[in-house]
Amino acid sequence: MTTAVYPGSFDPIHSGHLDVIGRACQIFDRVVVGVLDNELKRYLFSAEERADLVRQSLPADTKIEVRHFSGLAVAFAVAEGAQVIVRGLRAVSDLDSEFQMALMNRRLEPKVDTVFLTTGLSNVYLSSSLLRDVCAHGGSIEGLVSPAVERALQQKLAPAAVRAG
Ligand code: PNS
Repeated sequence: MTTAVYPGSFDPIHSGHLDVIGRACQIFDRVVVGVLDNELKRYLFSAEERADLVRQSLPADTKIEVRHFSGLAVAFAVAEGAQVIVRGLRAVSDLDSEFQMALMNRRLEPKVDTVFLTTGLSNVYLSSSLLRDVCAHGGSIEGLVSPAVERALQQKLAPAAVRAG
């Protein structure tokens, strides 16, 4: 059985991430989405909230599990019995930092390899930070995130847009 972990910040999860998860499910027997809890980083949503939003955004599929983790992604992969780390690529500009991470992760844990999946063309411009920014300024993000994420973003950020007005 091949297990892949898909680590990320998911602050919050969007259609590009969901696209990558769907593609990973076509290839691997078990896919574990790992929501990073890095105490040195400021997130809009807590790790629990981000993991819950991932769960609420996923189709019912027994091969996908969602956990949050702290520490190294390779350690999370080993703990989950995964052979593969999945990362999504949007454009060539992603490759530089992803290449660095993949090689460092291989050095840390040679048994775990990184597999890059390219997201669908309709999602290549999406990022969590862009979506947070658009929502904070009152723009529509409908169709770019799940309804659960849209509601959660509006609850967190829409008051800021109203106050600014
Ligand atoms: O969604 P992101 O923010 O692009 O994901 C980045 C992530 C979580 C994959 C990366 O920061 C990571 O793996 N962090 C865990 C700590 C770690 O393993 N650092 C060394 C990476 S070589």
